[in-house]
Amino acid sequence: MINVPKGTKDILPQESYKWQYVEKIARETARIFGASEIRTPTFEHTEVFLRGVGETTDIVNKEMYTFLDKGNRSITLKPEGTAGIARAFVENGLANSALPAKFFYLTPCFRYERPQAGRLREFHQFGVEFLGSYSADIDAETILLAKTFLENVGIKNVSLYINSIGCKECRKNYENALKEYLNQNLDALCPLCKDRLNKNPLRILDCKNDDCKEITKNAPKILDYICQDCSAHLEKVKKLLDIAGVEYKINPNIVRGLDYYTRTVFEFVSENIGAQGTVCGGGRYDGLIKELGGTDTPGIGFAVGIERILLLLENTGVEIENPNKVKIYFAPMGESESEKVFELVSNLRAQGVLCDFDHMGRGIKAQFKYADKIGAEYVAVIGSNELAEGAVKIKKMADGSESFVKFSDIKDFLSNN
Ligand code: HAM
Repeated sequence: MINVPKGTKDILPQESYKWQYVEKIARETARIFGASEIRTPTFEHTEVFLRGVGETTDIVNKEMYTFLDKGNRSITLKPEGTAGIARAFVENGLANSALPAKFFYLTPCFRYERPQAGRLREFHQFGVEFLGSYSADIDAETILLAKTFLENVGIKNVSLYINSIGCKECRKNYENALKEYLNQNLDALCPLCKDRLNKNPLRILDCKNDDCKEITKNAPKILDYICQDCSAHLEKVKKLLDIAGVEYKINPNIVRGLDYYTRTVFEFVSENIGAQGTVCGGGRYDGLIKELGGTDTPGIGFAVGIERILLLLENTGVEIENPNKVKIYFAPMGESESEKVFELVSNLRAQGVLCDFDHMGRGIKAQFKYADKIGAEYVAVIGSNELAEGAVKIKKMADGSESFVKFSDIKDFLSNN
């Protein structure tokens, strides 16, 4: 037997309807916020992520699926959605379209990480990217979209953490102060953070190692270093979230793992799915489009991990109804009734009724067992009497009650019950 590669999963029919439910709500929520779907390729030239996500990040350094194609080009399976969309925005000249451009996407992503609950090597994101506005109201709107989606899906008890990591200018001052502080505590940092100190010191702030956590507790706080404009921007975002009734906590340790962020960053975190508790992460990226060769265009967005959403729904007991249950199952007594059954089923399907019938030549008892297994709501047994009368007893599986219905009235019966 050949197994799926580590960190990937088959999504079987007993799960796929839950995906469809989450995806439907994602599309609908994005739509009412004015976003349209964008689909970019599953793979890009590696450079898109080197320049977009950033060469000092864990994603680029350790986690990308990168290979040379047969034309000797370096290709990478997308580890996230934003950089490819920024590339598409530039390449298609969308800066000249009506701005802000509001996109949403549902996409597989690939990261070579150590798999665990809520962490896969192929996972799926629902995300949005709003491009073209510097205004703080689009930050608040983006956060509100994420929150509305989580609520619409049925998720409660997630905490929203917000921070500002400043602009390119004020972050430099902060990085210097942080480096100075961390240098004094160098020996106690984990090996990874020692390495991060010169490359990407902000990342040390969200290291999960206990020693590093202890040290960063007393580290200088970014919000004491950001410039007046960045500070005013954050205050405006907070005010708008207050107006919308969105609860949040300011957390100066939210720095995010990707290099493109500027100013507002945020995460929605749950206590209910173990170590991988971040269900949604996002932020502003005012330099990304320029970095990828476009005109100076700001942007903001977020992505939600669909697997984490489903895990959270399961762990918090949210039931999702399976819309693919058979409404009525027809059980022909024998070969001579099967043609009538085929006709009835075809007519009902043409009218949009989810129905099915025996394909295996099973006896009546076995057919009932099967109908029960697939969760059929009604069963109709068709024998020679039924053919002669042009009517059938329809049994409701939930309580065993029976109704006598003419063949021509089955659709109406099902619509009314
Ligand atoms: P990210 O925080 O790297 O941000 O990922 C966003 C979400 O994807 C995470 O919160 C998590 O739910 C899910 N996720 C990430 N890695 C995995 C994994 N290995 N297995 C399962 N789920 C995972 C981004 O990707 C940014 N592009 C978000 C963004 C959009 N920022 C601005 N626009």
